Amino acid sequence: MDSSQKPFLITNFKRPSRAVILLILTVITVSLIQISSKTVFPIWVVFGKNSFVTKQEEKSRASCSGFYRKGLTRKVVMSIKDFGGVSDGKTCNTLAFRKAMQHLKSFGDKGGSQLNVPKGRWVTGSFNLTSNFTLFLEFGAVLLGSQNPQEWPIIEPLPSYGRGRERLGGRHISLIHGDGLYDVVITGENGTIDGQGKMWWDLWWNRTLEHTRGHLVELMNSQNILISNLTFLNSPFWTIHPVYCSNVVVKGMTILSPLNSPNTDGIDPDSSTHVCIEDCYIESGDDLVAVKSGWDHYGIKMARPSSDIMVRNVSGTTPTCSGVGIGSEMSGGIFDVVIENLHIINSAAGVRIKTDIGRGGYITNITISNVTLDRVKIPIRFSRGSNDHPDEGWNPKALPSVKGIYIRNVISINTGKAPVLEGIKDAPFEEICLTNISILGLSPSARWQCEFISGMTVGVLPLPCSQLQSNSSSWCQLYENSLVQDKIL
Ligand SMILES: *[C@@H]1O[C@H](CO)[C@@H](O)[C@H](O)[C@H]1NC(C)=O
Ligand SMILES: *[C@@H]1O[C@H](CO)[C@@H](O)[C@H](O)[C@H]1NC(C)=O
Ligand SMILES: *[C@@H]1O[C@H](CO)[C@@H](O)[C@H](O)[C@H]1NC(C)=O
Ligand SMILES: *[C@@H]1O[C@H](CO)[C@@H](O)[C@H](O)[C@H]1NC(C)=O
Ligand SMILES: *[C@@H]1O[C@H](CO)[C@@H](O)[C@H](O)[C@H]1NC(C)=O
Ligand SMILES: *[C@@H]1O[C@H](CO)[C@@H](O)[C@H](O)[C@H]1NC(C)=O
Ligand SMILES: *[C@@H]1O[C@H](CO)[C@@H](O)[C@H](O)[C@H]1NC(C)=O
Ligand SMILES: *[C@@H]1O[C@H](CO)[C@@H](O)[C@H](O)[C@H]1NC(C)=O
Ligand SMILES: *[C@@H]1O[C@H](CO)[C@@H](O)[C@H](O)[C@H]1NC(C)=O
Ligand SMILES: *[C@@H]1O[C@H](CO)[C@@H](O)[C@H](O)[C@H]1NC(C)=O
Repeated sequence: MDSSQKPFLITNFKRPSRAVILLILTVITVSLIQISSKTVFPIWVVFGKNSFVTKQEEKSRASCSGFYRKGLTRKVVMSIKDFGGVSDGKTCNTLAFRKAMQHLKSFGDKGGSQLNVPKGRWVTGSFNLTSNFTLFLEFGAVLLGSQNPQEWPIIEPLPSYGRGRERLGGRHISLIHGDGLYDVVITGENGTIDGQGKMWWDLWWNRTLEHTRGHLVELMNSQNILISNLTFLNSPFWTIHPVYCSNVVVKGMTILSPLNSPNTDGIDPDSSTHVCIEDCYIESGDDLVAVKSGWDHYGIKMARPSSDIMVRNVSGTTPTCSGVGIGSEMSGGIFDVVIENLHIINSAAGVRIKTDIGRGGYITNITISNVTLDRVKIPIRFSRGSNDHPDEGWNPKALPSVKGIYIRNVISINTGKAPVLEGIKDAPFEEICLTNISILGLSPSARWQCEFISGMTVGVLPLPCSQLQSNSSSWCQLYENSLVQDKIL
């Protein structure tokens, strides 16, 4: 070794100045404080050491609050009465709400505004929200969706769907709508928004619906949204639909629709990121929560994924659909989803991943944990063959990729069937990792049904299908090991 290669510190050693010594001491002190705070509050002491939970998940468990950033207190507060609203449950208030929104819009950059809806029954057609705005439903306030379809005008289809979801062409606007907004709050003292959807369900049932039904609340291209502490009833179609949005919180909501009402999904984050759904009770005729990202070639072309989705402490019932669904529209991709503390009763499925050929896109890094199911027909279900496409333009070669699904800590009682996990022939679902799952109440002859999937299981009852008993792949073990590491660190 010649001298030029000698370690820097030795060849260039000089007596350090006081300032340098001080700096070094400061650095050492700061690191010692960090080390000691780690020792005082190790993750596993705070959260209990025997649970399969990552540090990341524990951190995020703190609350949804990082997802919505509270704006300033609204400067201007007005009542719908100030705009001539009448709460007799008959008079149509569409113009009053539209006038109110037109007026309050001007305060968007002047400290924001709030519209209060007092106790009473307020019939209205669709109206648009504005930015830096709060819609506040006081105790006993009930908004009722107009029974005149013209009060739900037709708007453009979503580019990621290429057409209305149910009918070609445009679609009815949602009752409460927003496009391109920033900082919108819809909240109150458990007031109610009742879509009075029966008229629309009848049109659907008797096949006289001309355009796709409207949502109860749809926000498009918007950021920083909070929907909380309200009851939403009888949506014509999916109840809450954030699409192309980011930073959305839906918290403390009760969402109810008749158990046989068609397509009345609870909450559908669609091509949206940083969405947190927490503490909600939902009963409906379709999925309680469904994460989506566009439909076949239209969704593939737009390539707008849903990611960073958190679903926590959601309970409810859906006799024909699932507690939480991923898909079937997932063509823009879905990744980084955490679902925990689900409590589903009397339902067709607990958690379900749905896709098909033609969808393209991907579903990856989905973590589902702490799920309790009671009287659920199929506790865990992966399925293909939705077999619905927007038009003839779909590409049979566009296969979805499903990879990295982690499900753990599931108890299902009074279960109808063992899990049904069906992938796609030329696109098998991979890296399915199931741990600590007890499916109880099955008949002794019940068997898992698996096709075109691969992965691993640890601590799963009853004995899973052979596709999930492989010891060859180490990634599931790696994942579990990383959980153990998290507990030790
Ligand atoms: C909303 O308020 C913020 C300040 O909190 C302001 O920067 C922004 O321009 C406002 N947005 C609109 C659309 O007025
Ligand atoms: C509401 O916004 C939609 C577009 O998002 C627009 O087509 C419609 O005309 C607006 N309605 C009102 C009453 O401003
Ligand atoms: C809000 O009202 C609904 C419907 O009446 C009720 O089921 C729910 O428990 C109420 N929520 C709260 C927090 O009071
Ligand atoms: C379909 O339902 C609508 C709404 O209830 C009703 O007006 C219409 O008469 C029904 N049509 C048929 C053919 O039943
Ligand atoms: C819901 O209501 C409770 C009780 O009034 C309140 O403390 C809480 O801040 C509200 N939460 C949200 C997210 O609006
Ligand atoms: C879970 O959500 C329900 C509302 O559905 C709420 O009453 C309950 O307090 C929440 N549990 C926790 C632990 O926050
Ligand atoms: C998986 O998703 C979680 C939750 O969103 C995220 O924290 C984690 O970094 C993701 N893992 C990978 C490998 O992307
Ligand atoms: C599991 O979920 C239930 C509600 O379904 C909740 O009460 C419980 O605290 C959760 N456990 C953990 C460890 O989060
Ligand atoms: C296994 O799951 C059950 C039910 O969710 C839970 O109570 C238990 O703590 C879990 N065991 C481990 C080791 O995480
Ligand atoms: C997998 O490995 C475990 C121990 O690591 C062993 O008990 C089990 O029998 C193996 N399973 C198969 C299918 O080889």
